[in-house]
Amino acid sequence: MARKILTAIADSTLFLREWLANPQRTGSVTPSSPKLAAAMARWLPRDPETFVLELGPGTGAVTEALLKRGLREDRLVAIENNPVLATHLRKRFPLAQIITGDAWQMDRLLGELSPPVRSVGAVISSLPLLNFPPAEAAALAAKIRTALEPRGRWVQYSYHIVKSRSRGAEDFRLIASKIVWWNLPPARVHVFQK
Ligand SMILES: C[S@@+](CC[C@H](N)C(=O)[O-])C[C@H]1O[C@@H](n2cnc3c(N)ncnc32)[C@H](O)[C@@H]1O
Repeated sequence: MARKILTAIADSTLFLREWLANPQRTGSVTPSSPKLAAAMARWLPRDPETFVLELGPGTGAVTEALLKRGLREDRLVAIENNPVLATHLRKRFPLAQIITGDAWQMDRLLGELSPPVRSVGAVISSLPLLNFPPAEAAALAAKIRTALEPRGRWVQYSYHIVKSRSRGAEDFRLIASKIVWWNLPPARVHVFQK
């Protein structure tokens, strides 16, 4: 328990430092709460062999919930563009494939893995999409659509808790939408399917 609290404090401190260095890109002052992370993780694919792609894992709050929910660590690919956070994640999740890079390059980055990852059963995204222009969000959504298996899901949270669609998700079917109040700030989890 004490170790868990110390890890949470260390992660929050690291997150805050990275937010101070780049608030726009980091998108939040603190890591997601365990409640928000669990609300994202419950949408994992059932098939244990399927790869899952996490976008913007930060210090690993959602990553931890995905593994706790049963995702095999070696089935996780995560793209984080902050090199400090990516290094932290590699130490924390040594069996996962942590890529330092831009989520918008996901097609190329997945193709460069050895062996390449051709498709994923879910995309779990914490990217601060509302900080990006609509055209960029739409470009990302198109790439997510291509990367997803036929019944694959895109899980995205945002701090815009009014029930509107996520930026860029117009070509997806919204299958669930839920507010998680126990988070700073409260967040809405959207789940989309092709
Ligand atoms: C709101 S934080 C979420 C962090 C973590 N998943 C959580 O929920 O606590 C967004 C994360 O996305 C990362 N990020 C922002 N733009 C990105 C991009 N273009 N490609 C990959 N990661 C990006 C940030 O560095 C940050 O770690």
